[in-house]
Amino acid sequence: GEPPAEAAVPQAGQDGLVLLRRIGVADPASLDGYRADGGYAALRRAFRLGPAGVIREVLESGLVGRGGAAFPTGRKWDATARQPDHPHYLVCNADESEPGTFKDRVIMEGDPYALVEAMTIAAYATGCAKGYLYIRGEYPRAIRRLEHAIATARARGLLGTGILGHAFDFDIELRRGAGAYICGEETAIFNSIEGFRGEPRSKPPFPVEKGLFGKPTVVNNVETLVNVLPILEHGAQAYAAIGTEASTGTKLFCVSGNVARPGIYELPFGATLRDLMDLANPVGEPRAVLLGGAAGAFVTDLDIPLTFEGTRQAGATLGSGVVLVLDDSVDLKAMLLRIAEFFRDESCGQCVPCRVGTVRQEEALHRLSERVDERDLLLLREVGQTMRDASICGLGQTAWNAVESAIDRLGVYR
Ligand code: NAI
Ligand code: SF4
Repeated sequence: GEPPAEAAVPQAGQDGLVLLRRIGVADPASLDGYRADGGYAALRRAFRLGPAGVIREVLESGLVGRGGAAFPTGRKWDATARQPDHPHYLVCNADESEPGTFKDRVIMEGDPYALVEAMTIAAYATGCAKGYLYIRGEYPRAIRRLEHAIATARARGLLGTGILGHAFDFDIELRRGAGAYICGEETAIFNSIEGFRGEPRSKPPFPVEKGLFGKPTVVNNVETLVNVLPILEHGAQAYAAIGTEASTGTKLFCVSGNVARPGIYELPFGATLRDLMDLANPVGEPRAVLLGGAAGAFVTDLDIPLTFEGTRQAGATLGSGVVLVLDDSVDLKAMLLRIAEFFRDESCGQCVPCRVGTVRQEEALHRLSERVDERDLLLLREVGQTMRDASICGLGQTAWNAVESAIDRLGVYR
């Protein structure tokens, strides 16, 4: 069924909205409205700069990926643009599936032309004539709005051949996921689009060299792509002046759990978890916060700066921006079991450490929730470390993160 709209309503009353400024204000169906509000100014500037100039701006902006891994976007674009093998492909990863993540959905539902324009700019910079928008199948409203935006842009000469009168052709094909978490992994997306099982491929080679259909491919998350618009509109320097030196710009945070005001918040990097809590208004005293979703870690220190470097230093991750707030009423053992069940269920089963490890982890947690036994705690650690070290992809590598942090920092099973 269609998820309720109010679950993801961005929070009003914040100054300095960049990515969310049109959400809930503009008509997502109106291309005229989008253009009247400054839409397509970024693409026009991109044409003036030329592909190399756009890449230079993105490099200088310091933009890093917002899907969770924070890889420098400009480096990805530059590496793809330089590949002699053609065609090049662009893939927008809109298979937002990390539990607790709903930021890309808000952008796609509320500002679909922004994503279409940003994909067009990415394609222009990296030499792609075709882009795939791989979207989570459970986002019917976003799918409808994007289909409408793509068709309208095409009818108005903003997609297709000779875009805005320039010698540049580009079009977008929308593909829906079918409910598998693993199909958000970039190489599993390639297999899915190509008609194979959604199983990750080994990296390297990285997609920038050998991606979709074996060709150089840029894969960017929705939030990453829409950041390119303010970078081109205001310039790389103005963009880099927001946030911290290593984490530039603003970030969308998906706040849920025991708070009075759950939703999407946009803040400049560098705000602390406490700043965010002041806005979201926790119900009761927060006992812990799960940062980064099921693949992330529990933290207790509210003074952690919400930056990639700050969360890393605290032994956590910003990941895709999940901030799940827990108070004393939460049954942590049940929550860990649910997380373990999720990973066991979503493992594609291709490699042994993850296929077997996620099952063993869940079994040990079941036993521990009945009776604490040191041997099970030791087993969990060994299995977790093996999954982290030997799994092919991020799913197995992160499947023990939350459990480990709950044992070490929250004293569950003590
Ligand atoms: P990764 O670190 O393997 O790669 C990040 C990106 O950088 C990829 O696009 C990769 O191709 C590129 N890259 C890395 N090294 C490169 C090199 N030397 N040359 C060129 N490109 C290079 O991480 P991955 O597996 O793509 O993402 C893991 C993250 O995804 C986790 O941190 C997790 O938080 C997040 N995640 C987000 C979800 C969501 O719904 N948004 C769902 C599940 C996980
Ligand atoms: Fe599949 Fe898990 Fe291996 Fe990733 S780590 S390839 S999800 S079995």
